Amino acid sequence: RRPDALPHDLAGRRVLVTAGGTREPLDPVRYLGNRSSGRQGWALALVAAARGAAVTLVAANVEEVAPPGVTVVPVGDARELSAAVDSVLDDPAGPVDAVVMAAAVADFRPAAAAEVKIKKLPGGAPPVVELVENPDILAGIAHRTERRPAVVVGFAAETGAATGSRTGATAADPLPDATDASDPVMASVLEYARQKLARKGCDLLVVNRVDQGRAFGAPDNAAVLLAPARADHRADHGADAAQVVAEVPLGPKTVLAAAV
Ligand code: CTP
Ligand code: CA
Repeated sequence: RRPDALPHDLAGRRVLVTAGGTREPLDPVRYLGNRSSGRQGWALALVAAARGAAVTLVAANVEEVAPPGVTVVPVGDARELSAAVDSVLDDPAGPVDAVVMAAAVADFRPAAAAEVKIKKLPGGAPPVVELVENPDILAGIAHRTERRPAVVVGFAAETGAATGSRTGATAADPLPDATDASDPVMASVLEYARQKLARKGCDLLVVNRVDQGRAFGAPDNAAVLLAPARADHRADHGADAAQVVAEVPLGPKTVLAAAV
């Protein structure tokens, strides 16, 4: 479908999306990074803009050109991403209604980036890189006391506690359905996700199962959307109770974006 064939149900809304993967500098030529392509965040920005929202995409090392109608703010590392997010959230032009943190943010960065290239000296010992923790940007947004967007969405990429043994399976066999909660790996993925939702304080968590080469860098994605349980359900199941609000089967990242 052409984008202008979509309903303009987000007209008048301001949406902030982060995409890609941060790169934490080690020295002028090297970084610590991850496998995020930025395509899921790119699809979220595209779909929100096509549905009429004013969209800013904070893009960490994303190769794609800007989706039509989207303002792109390029960033490199986690601290730049955090500063860019804060400046959008505090923009005098108006409050942000929804933020979607699709970016893969490095949890740790080298304590100091070397100013000159780290050299491999003959007979020298391998260098030891000291890491320090990056700020948790999503938790920071969700716990804001001023200008907290009404809707804060996080992503969780989980492999589960153990890898599926796939006894007797060959490489040609299809992977188990990535939203099937009866699969033991998926049950563990969902338990991690439930804890993450409570810890982060967000309103929706997009749970991606990323074992066996899923999601990262792939054109397609499947996800379970997890939200805090309604008040009546929490009374029975505890303060951290969560509920699955949608299961999105493997398909184009734009389809998952529309569901989010
Ligand atoms: N995130 C963030 N800032 C960080 C790390 C993560 O904002 N420093 C956001 C991501 O953009 C994502 C969500 O938090 O929306 C979950 O990221 P994830 O790496 O799954 O969560 P962590 O709490 O870092 O847990 P883990 O130990 O599984 O990496
Ligand atoms: Ca992490």
